[in-house]
Amino acid sequence: MHDLPAELLATARELLPSGTCPKTGIVLGTGLGDWAAGLAAPERIAYADLPGFPQSTVESHQGQLVLGWTGDRPVLALQGRFHLYEGYSAEEVCLGVRLLSRLGIANIIFTNAAGALNPLFQCGAIMVIADQINHTGHQPLTGTNLEHWGPRFPDMSRTFNPGLQHLALQTGADLGLRLEQGVYIGVQGPSLETPAETRVYKLWGADAVGMSTVLEVIAAKHMGLNILGLSCLTNKNLPDCMAPTSLQEIIAQAEKTGQELGRLLTAIIPRIDASSSAG
Ligand code: HPA
Repeated sequence: MHDLPAELLATARELLPSGTCPKTGIVLGTGLGDWAAGLAAPERIAYADLPGFPQSTVESHQGQLVLGWTGDRPVLALQGRFHLYEGYSAEEVCLGVRLLSRLGIANIIFTNAAGALNPLFQCGAIMVIADQINHTGHQPLTGTNLEHWGPRFPDMSRTFNPGLQHLALQTGADLGLRLEQGVYIGVQGPSLETPAETRVYKLWGADAVGMSTVLEVIAAKHMGLNILGLSCLTNKNLPDCMAPTSLQEIIAQAEKTGQELGRLLTAIIPRIDASSSAG
């Protein structure tokens, strides 16, 4: 574990006018980057201009840090993330969330695209992540622990904040959106799952599978952030009638569901900021 480069923090801080302290950060996953374009008064820094920051190689990820406003609440958004399958280390994958934490946020929302393993979950639904399984074979907390970031052995018994999950379900209901709740399993990718693998993941208790998020969640928990995870279920992974899945289909569905997820994000961020239950 290595501290963030001082120039990285200093450059990112230039995005924040004095007195602006966003309480909530968000990581926008596949097909969801457009939401940040709808933020009011956006200020942006391209990842290429953040010293020491990796570059996102995924075409559907724009690669910029954005400060914008929903209502009267400022929010910091990472438009694009880094994945193990791109060749990045666990530490590089987590640099963005660690940067947001050092910029002072208290709450973090992770969004992603995922394949549904639970046969009752529909393609196009949004799943509130209740818990996770890190099946990537990687860990962002190995090596010397930075005590000013968090403890050597962070507790993971309540990783996803119950108050934020409740708020997401309530906000979804208020907007007329049907939200599911379940366990996300994170795998390294980039190959999609075989029927035998999906069978095992279901047996392990997973409801959805994806190639991101779990390492960032561990890093966020380590730093004491309140975590909310939202998955766009872009395809169904049913071991006994497995249909071929392509990235194009996943992106197309994520963009469609992303519209609904966007409405949820816009409504929930001011509520999170105002909520004391997030503590
Ligand atoms: N598997 C892994 N990652 C994914 C999937 C999937 O089926 N869908 C979207 N991301």
